[in-house]
Amino acid sequence: MKFYSRKLIKPGDLNANNTLFGGQLLRWIDEEAGIYTMTKLNSRRTVTKYISEINFVSSARQADTIEIGLAFSDIGRTSITLSCVVRNLVTKNVIIEIDKIVFVNVDENDRPLPHGLTREDIEREAL
Ligand SMILES: CC(C)(COP(=O)(O)OP(=O)(O)OC[C@H]1O[C@@H](n2cnc3c(N)ncnc32)[C@H](O)[C@@H]1OP(=O)(O)O)[C@@H](O)C(=O)NCCC(=O)NCCS
Repeated sequence: MKFYSRKLIKPGDLNANNTLFGGQLLRWIDEEAGIYTMTKLNSRRTVTKYISEINFVSSARQADTIEIGLAFSDIGRTSITLSCVVRNLVTKNVIIEIDKIVFVNVDENDRPLPHGLTREDIEREAL
C-alpha cells in the first residue's frame, strides 16, 4: 500500500462529538481514489461505482494529521478495484479500512468505456 495525500484535521472537519466526521473522510478518500484511478487508467473520466463495507476502526481528532493509502487490487474490462487504509501520520493508528473501491472508466456520455489495460500493465507501471 502506498500513502498519498496527508490531511490536517481542522474544526470544519469535525462531527458533533468533535472527532473527524466520517462524511468528510469519505469525501477525501473518494477524491484521492479518483485521482489514483485516472492516473492508472490514463483517463480523464472515471466514476465511483462501488464501495464495499467500511470499517471505521478508530477516531481522529482536531490537529491530527492523517494519510490516505491506496492499493491496486483488481482490473476488469472497464473497471479498476482498489483497497484503502487511512491512518494517523504519527502514531500509524488505523482510522478506516475499505476492502474494495471500484471505479469505472466512462465515455463522454457517461457510459462504461473499455480502458484496454491488463493487470500486468498496472503492475508493470507500478515498478
Ligand atoms: C458507472 C456506471 C456507468 C456503470 O454502469 P453499469 O450499467 O453498471 O455498467 P456495467 O454493468 O457495464 O458495469 C461496468 C463495470 O462496473 C462493474 N460493476 C457493476 N456493478 C458493480 C458492483 N455492484 N460492484 C462492483 N463492480 C460493479 C462491472 O463489473 C463492470 O466492470 P468490468 O467492465 O471491468 O467488468 C453507472 O452505474 C453509473 O453511472 N453510476 C453512477 C456513477 C456515479 O455517478 N458516481 C459518482 C458518485 S454518485
